[in-house]
Amino acid sequence: MVNVRTALKNGIAQLREANVPSFTLAAELLLLQVLSRNRTWLYAHPEEIITDAEAHRFFGLIARRAAGEPTQHLTGKQEFWGLEFEVTPDVLIPRPETEHVIEVALDRLALRERRAGRPQKSAGEGLQIADIGTGSGCIAIALAKELPAANFVATDISPAALALAKRNAQRHAVADHIDFREANLLSPVGAQHAAPLLGAISTEAQSRFHESQVTSNQPPTYDSPLATRHSPLSFDLIASNPPYIGRREAPSLPREVRDHEPASALFGGEEGYELYADLISQSAQHLKPGGILVLELGHNSLPAVQPLLDAKDWTNVGVTNDLAGIPRILAAERL
Ligand SMILES: C[S@@+](CC[C@H](N)C(=O)[O-])C[C@H]1O[C@@H](n2cnc3c(N)ncnc32)[C@H](O)[C@@H]1O
Repeated sequence: MVNVRTALKNGIAQLREANVPSFTLAAELLLLQVLSRNRTWLYAHPEEIITDAEAHRFFGLIARRAAGEPTQHLTGKQEFWGLEFEVTPDVLIPRPETEHVIEVALDRLALRERRAGRPQKSAGEGLQIADIGTGSGCIAIALAKELPAANFVATDISPAALALAKRNAQRHAVADHIDFREANLLSPVGAQHAAPLLGAISTEAQSRFHESQVTSNQPPTYDSPLATRHSPLSFDLIASNPPYIGRREAPSLPREVRDHEPASALFGGEEGYELYADLISQSAQHLKPGGILVLELGHNSLPAVQPLLDAKDWTNVGVTNDLAGIPRILAAERL
């Protein structure tokens, strides 16, 4: 027989012994998961006896966490932008610094509206937005919650990630607004190549898309592939948090990351910044004039990536630091 206080104390001690970062929080989250309770309950009921089955499950999770599995893989969730996302080993666990992608994207869109003399706070009517390398779907879904009238395309090279992102979109009731597509950056792969871009989203969203294309004097694009050189499809905003860690940095990564998160979500190449050149040149082809590009950067990517935004194609280039003072977001406007 063990009560809440003792279970938690023992769990914390085991995680501290195993050098787990944030060991107290991790033990709390695992106990909350097992008991299906919230934190307030946990600290208001230290004497509550937990069942043997609950204790067995809790110490099983503690052992797995001590062996390096991320807490989020054990609880199956992570909060991002105030929303709860399902996470599995198929996707990158959403990170707090990626919330700067959302902030910068929304700020830049509002600025664009202000310059055009329109209300800054819109629901995103007529906007076409792409999230490249969507993973759990966190960027597209957070933006879709903020801009419920916009249409989204979210790509990933991993079908397993796309399946999870779709579940997260359903969970947050934005699946009708996001077309999840298997693609290499903005280029469809395999059987998806011939699929219509808007085939997966609602008829209502398709007609909104159609109207916006007609009002912008572009031909309708129902049967256009996602991103071919000659596709008339174009976006108002492209956001991406691509893989950006260098393979040579792998040995110095925390074991939780190196051994448990997908390599395809972590590594951009030997140096880390290799994907940005293609991402930026494809974005240049697929942004409308005045369209916005928002990229998350690795901790040392800026010097290699910023020069790729040449003055021929891009203007209003800006860098935003994260809370640790690292240049984390690079944003620019297509000329
Ligand atoms: C760093 S994770 C970002 C996931 C999510 N957007 C986030 O911010 O948490 C990068 C994602 O890009 C995907 N990816 C890697 N290479 C890609 C490529 N060439 N084209 C499209 N997606 C790619 C990975 O599968 C992974 O889901």
